[in-house]
Order: sequence, then C-alpha cells, then structure tokens
Amino acid sequence: MNDPTTIRRLYGRRQGHKLRAGQAALVEELLPEVAVPESGPLDARTLFGDDRPLEFEIGFGAGEHLAAQAEANPGRGFIGCEPFLNGVVGALGHLRDRNLGNVRLHMGDALTVLERLPDASLDRVYLLHPDPWPKARHAKRRMVNPGPLDLIAAKLKTGGEFRLGTDDPTYCRWAMMVMNGRRDFVWQARTPADFLTRPADWPETRYERKARRQGHEVWYFRYLRA
Ligand SMILES: C[S@@+](CC[C@H](N)C(=O)[O-])C[C@H]1O[C@@H](n2cnc3c(N)ncnc32)[C@H](O)[C@@H]1O
Repeated sequence: MNDPTTIRRLYGRRQGHKLRAGQAALVEELLPEVAVPESGPLDARTLFGDDRPLEFEIGFGAGEHLAAQAEANPGRGFIGCEPFLNGVVGALGHLRDRNLGNVRLHMGDALTVLERLPDASLDRVYLLHPDPWPKARHAKRRMVNPGPLDLIAAKLKTGGEFRLGTDDPTYCRWAMMVMNGRRDFVWQARTPADFLTRPADWPETRYERKARRQGHEVWYFRYLRA
C-alpha cells in the first residue's frame, strides 16, 4: 500500500495497566487458540473450517461490539484487530464468558491482516470511533484516508457494508468529505435520522457510551461497496 497521503504506522498505547493473574492467563491460554495465524493464507475456511460470511472490525477497543455481533450472528465469522493489550484482554473475556467460537483476534495493526485476506472476501467492515487525530498536521494518521479505504474497498464484496461511527466533529466532517469523493462506496443515508440514530443491529461501543455521557453527538455512517 504505497499511498503518500496516508501514514502507515501504529500510534497510541500498546499497554495500559498491568494485567491481573486471571487476565494474563487469558492471554497465555485463550489468545493462542483464537489468534489469527501469523502467516499463510487467510480465508473463512482456514480460520473457521467452512465458507461462512466474514466480518472484520478495525480497532475493537475492549471488544463489546465485536462480541455482541458475534453472539447475534453465530453463522458468521468475525475477525477483530486491536493493538492495545488491555483491549484484547477485554475481548478475550467476552469470548470466554459468552462461549463464542466464531471470533478470531489479532493483537496489532488491522491493515496487515486485511492485506492478507482475499479480495472481495468480506461482508462487512467496522471502523468504530477511530482515533480522531484532530490536528490538521496529523490528518494523515487517520484511518479514513485513501490507503486504508482502498484496502477496505478491495476486501469487501460488492454489496458488502462499511460501517463507520464517530463522535468527533472534525472526523465526521473529514469522513464525509473523503467518503463523498469516492465512487466505490455508496452512502446509505436518505435523511439525517439515518446517520444520527444508531441502527438496531449496531451495538454500542465503550467510546460511544463515553461520548454520549459527555453530551457529544454520535454519527453512524453506513456505506455499501459499489
Ligand atoms: C478511540 S478507540 C475506539 C475503540 C472502540 N472501537 C470503541 O468504539 O470503543 C480507537 C482504537 O483503535 C485502535 N487502533 C488504532 N490504530 C489501529 C490499527 N492500525 N489497527 C487496529 N486498531 C487500531 C486503538 O488502539 C484504539 O483502541
């Protein structure tokens, strides 16, 4: 992905507070069982043993949306990527508590996993409350940029869905500007209510809840791959 308008590097914290013994055990025991393999081809069959539809979440935070989608859609396979160790631990806890067998996790950059998937292999991609990088000089770090979007477009099936949520006004405007310039994604909103109201099948994320508590507005964008 040689895109001069997008900086391809991982920013942000990889670890926060020290793990408790139970959390460390989850990382040692459960993570290897559900981890996306480090190398080799990746598709539904290699990950889940059959040809089920695949969905992909970029930066799942503590995994509440990923787990809720996986629980609601047991016939689908979910791939979640998150570099923050404490978030991965949160997701592992959900997988264990809800006994979810249809999720695979990668602790690291989502784009390196996306690149390994076959083109037109995903039914959905979720990007929920991406790091906003509000300063103009950091705009190239935003996930909504030509490089990552080209990759997402390549990996979605025709008619597949890209969901983007944000509570950041700068990111909202930026995303509308960037996405409106693309011919490969068709915005699904007909009225403002369509992007101001959370769809019923869009479980709330931790950042979204925090934003609402602070009185922020939240925007829900749904695009279909043309
Ligand atoms: C603001 S948080 C939102 C977390 C979660 N989606 C939510 O709504 O609660 C953004 C997340 O994106 C993750 N992130 C940043 N760059 C990433 C990348 N290249 N691949 C995967 N995750 C990334 C961060 O570690 C962070 O957890």
